[in-house]
Amino acid sequence: MTRTVLVTGGAGFIGSHACVALAAAGYEPLILDNFCNSDVRVIERLSEIIGKAPAFVEGDVRDKVLLHKVFREHEIDAVIHFAGLKAVGDSVAHPLHYYDTNVSGTVVLAAEMQRAGVKTLVFSSSATVYGEPECSPIPEGADCRPESPYGRSKHMVEQMLTDLHRSQPDWNVIVLRYFNPVGAHESGLIGEQPRGKPNNLMPYLCQVATGERQSLQVHGSDYATPDGTGVRDYVHVMDLAEGHVAAVKHAGGRPGLLTLNLGTGQGYSVMDVINEFERATGQPIARQLGPRRPGDVAAYWGDPARAHKLLGWKARRGLAEMCADSWRWQRRNPAGYASRLGVEVAHSGIELAQEL
Ligand code: NAD
Ligand code: UFG
Repeated sequence: MTRTVLVTGGAGFIGSHACVALAAAGYEPLILDNFCNSDVRVIERLSEIIGKAPAFVEGDVRDKVLLHKVFREHEIDAVIHFAGLKAVGDSVAHPLHYYDTNVSGTVVLAAEMQRAGVKTLVFSSSATVYGEPECSPIPEGADCRPESPYGRSKHMVEQMLTDLHRSQPDWNVIVLRYFNPVGAHESGLIGEQPRGKPNNLMPYLCQVATGERQSLQVHGSDYATPDGTGVRDYVHVMDLAEGHVAAVKHAGGRPGLLTLNLGTGQGYSVMDVINEFERATGQPIARQLGPRRPGDVAAYWGDPARAHKLLGWKARRGLAEMCADSWRWQRRNPAGYASRLGVEVAHSGIELAQEL
């Protein structure tokens, strides 16, 4: 029998890719999203990739009545909880909104899961819970010192889920701490759609490549890193998506609470990413060296050994594929889901430079 997985925030960047991976693994994703940071047209794109329309419910994860109805009307085996707000700067300006959505939203969801007897939960956490790390690669046992309301909201949920599991040991909870998700599905049909000027490196790079932005501002070139620019653990969103499938499989029928890093275990500098992007896509990237961005850490990357050991999951896609797939999505959809310049058959990202 097909197992149904409720995917809150399933219309978003990571959630939509997780729906593809779930369907490919034989699960039935059921999306719950209020589209506050996504586009309803993602559902059509998912239908094209999966071969049938995924079930979806439009609504807010904080809506207790709606959640009760969803659990009553569907046989749900597990929940992956992506729905949340994620912009660090915005969380400083609007902390209550962040705590309400991220923390209260999870309280409502977990309470309704409990009422429905659904006890398998995979939660989207973030490497941001570590704050400024003492060392890299960061193991899951490192101290957590989140530095923003966003990071604290994720850490609070982690603590709440730990208490829940302590009181109800028959729950299966897997907390996944993502490093820097980038890339897009190889079809170029779904991807990340930032609103306004992107904050993150990869979407900014893509917009410089299309000419929408003049040049990339490198935020700091005097860090104590090999080339002076910031180092991060970029992980392909399809690898992350597959990590969620592995988590759901692992959680099935096995009570426990696990906290796992999802990253590649490899750090790349801003210059590494620019150089690889140019190589993989054939697009020259104008850049300017600028001052450090307030709040940025010089370098960190994760230790993904535990996820490999316990879930058998390992990131398989490299930086070239991350760049090529991000670029394919951007090039085919210059205005995100509102535009589409043609459908492309899946390629290996490495071939893209020649193809263009
Ligand atoms: P996203 O904004 O693209 O997706 C989140 C989805 O949740 C959106 O579709 C949004 O409409 C929906 N949503 C938000 N509030 C909701 C609510 N109250 N009710 C129902 N739906 C709601 O973000 P993403 O990059 O896909 O991130 C998914 C999760 O992963 C988030 O919880 C985020 O904090 C976490 N995360 C993201 C990153 C990253 O860099 N992208 C890194 C670490 C962790
Ligand atoms: N960078 C630039 N120029 C830009 C954008 C970024 O040089 O225009 C640099 C940053 O200074 C940093 C690197 O590129 O060195 C990566 O920056 P991102 O903004 O892409 O990602 P961050 O590591 O700063 O933050 C991301 C998420 C956060 C999350 C954090 C930890 O955006 O939400 O990872 O998981 F909290």
